Amino acid sequence: MQITAPAPSSPVIEHAFELVLARSQLRLAVEPGESMADVLQLAGIALDTLCEQGVCGTCVTRWLAGAPEHRDSCLSAEEQRTHVAVCCARSLGPTLTLDL
Ligand code: FES
Repeated sequence: MQITAPAPSSPVIEHAFELVLARSQLRLAVEPGESMADVLQLAGIALDTLCEQGVCGTCVTRWLAGAPEHRDSCLSAEEQRTHVAVCCARSLGPTLTLDL
């Protein structure tokens, strides 16, 4: 019996997307390697964070449009239909709109 090594996992490729803030109508670019929380902080928009790893739920915010790529471990599948952990989620599409 021949044992083969597992195929190397493919690297995660992140793409840039536009973060839209519904209440202020601000549009912010999120580049690969940046988090939405970092972009919001740099823009002077207050968002509480704690773990910044998708664990604690402090940054959870309602999303309104787009297709979030959830990377948290604090939200249930049901909760992810309406909310996103801003510290670690990204967007699968070109824009993601948050209720901010
Ligand atoms: S800061 Fe903890 S889940 Fe985002």
